[in-house]
Amino acid sequence: MKKDIFLDNRIFSTTIFDKKIDIDFILEQFHNNSEHYTHTHFINNRWENIYLDPQKIPSVLPLLSKILSKAIDNYRTQIKPHQTLVIPHELLGYEKNEFWFNLALPGESTAVHNHNGKAVISGVYYLQVTEKCGNVVFINEKKEKMEVPAKCGQLLFFPPDLDHYVQENKGTDKRISLSFNCYLFPLIAPTN
Ligand SMILES: [Fe+2]
Repeated sequence: MKKDIFLDNRIFSTTIFDKKIDIDFILEQFHNNSEHYTHTHFINNRWENIYLDPQKIPSVLPLLSKILSKAIDNYRTQIKPHQTLVIPHELLGYEKNEFWFNLALPGESTAVHNHNGKAVISGVYYLQVTEKCGNVVFINEKKEKMEVPAKCGQLLFFPPDLDHYVQENKGTDKRISLSFNCYLFPLIAPTN
């Protein structure tokens, strides 16, 4: 797969490898704060989404910044001159964190869902993948499926309303990804 590519008109794939982004440290802070996890989406006997406040995992902030700059670069034509994109979270003054982790143990999978809401771009970044740990599969309106191989360091952007699921982890270790929603900011155009 090429480094930066639109897989179809709506799914964009790129990679992030940056000295400021320490994936091992992000994973360490993630594992060390399990008592602070909050969860949503209990499906198939498993909580699919794990939320962790940014105060508990500050190592993720440079990653979120890099993701945003990639999103702004790629979707510049959809953003009005007075607007930019934001991934809301508590340290920016928002009530809800719009990033979360998905940890799949061997044998686990993620059910079909979409991100919908008022977000303009959604995405996923792979923090830890192993062989056969499961790929994300997108499903379009015609019920056609598109499977995208998961690779460590890979970033995917996709429309919030595009259905997708993650195949069963048939590997021997955990699969860990970071999902997020990007919103337009400000939401209302200035009047003067
Ligand atoms: Fe998702």
